[in-house]
Amino acid sequence: MELLKKITEAFGPSGREDGVREVIRKEIEAYVDEIKVDNMGNLICHKKGNGKKLMMAAHMDEIGIMVTHIDKNGFVRFAPVGGVYPYNCIHRAVRFENGVEGVISGEGKTAMRDWNLDKMYVDIGAESYSEAAEKLKIGDMAAFKGEFMVMGKKVSGKTMDDRVACYTLLEAVKRVEDCPNDFYAVFTTQEELGLRGARVAAQVVEPDMAIAVDVSLVGDTPESNIVDLTLGKGPSIKLRDASYIISPKARDFMLKCANECGIPYQLEAATFGGTDTGAIMLTGRGVPSATTSIPCRYIHSPQETVHMDDVENEIKFLVQMIGTEID
Ligand code: CO
Ligand code: ZN
Repeated sequence: MELLKKITEAFGPSGREDGVREVIRKEIEAYVDEIKVDNMGNLICHKKGNGKKLMMAAHMDEIGIMVTHIDKNGFVRFAPVGGVYPYNCIHRAVRFENGVEGVISGEGKTAMRDWNLDKMYVDIGAESYSEAAEKLKIGDMAAFKGEFMVMGKKVSGKTMDDRVACYTLLEAVKRVEDCPNDFYAVFTTQEELGLRGARVAAQVVEPDMAIAVDVSLVGDTPESNIVDLTLGKGPSIKLRDASYIISPKARDFMLKCANECGIPYQLEAATFGGTDTGAIMLTGRGVPSATTSIPCRYIHSPQETVHMDDVENEIKFLVQMIGTEID
């Protein structure tokens, strides 16, 4: 739990994943044969094996905001980095890379329900342009602040998307004993901007099969939309989302592994969203690929919430897949 907390609390909006990468690198170093960072900043961890290349990917980046303008009174206007929704921003706290903190609010003459991002600003406590400009400049990025909370068997905090998957992949690498595949655990960058890091990582690794690990939206809260996914009932085998449709080869492999290790799992057919799989699948001559997801509530908010049973079962599932030879 301490490690999950540490990974989720690291600063890493898309394109600024360095802090997350260092936390993961230190943890994983002793368990792999070779580590490299490619030109996109992806952390590529290689565990040598005699078989074909199996790649697993979890993205390190989180959504955030970027400074676009500072006004004469020291209020800061911003652009989204990734899928930032106005209603998740209202009166939320953010922290910039240099430690400056602020509160997001919106223009008083506009009704709160009509606040979109260009009606909103960050109040960093400055009283003038020059005071604000001493602390921040155009292009500086901030991440949302969240509180890491244990709520029974559920855990809530910022960046479960996708640090909880980074955590499960890391734990799986630590636990795996036999590795018949030539295995690559890849921690990718810039997923939230359109699966950018994974696209390059897959060209570097050239996998024979790839599995992305991510989080997926659930339908188990009051009056929610119909989404056939529930917290606590196991990780998903994601058959599709808006970025891909599962390769039969990857589907059969995942079903076999899930059944062999005896974890509960859920079949998921999402009609929205994208995962690194969508990019990896279309590299080289095409890569049989799929995603497995940890069910998650309140995605892209500072209090993304997951169930620890799902986290543990995802780790078991990944260990089983890493240890099963692909053909
Ligand atoms: Co996301
Ligand atoms: Zn994600």
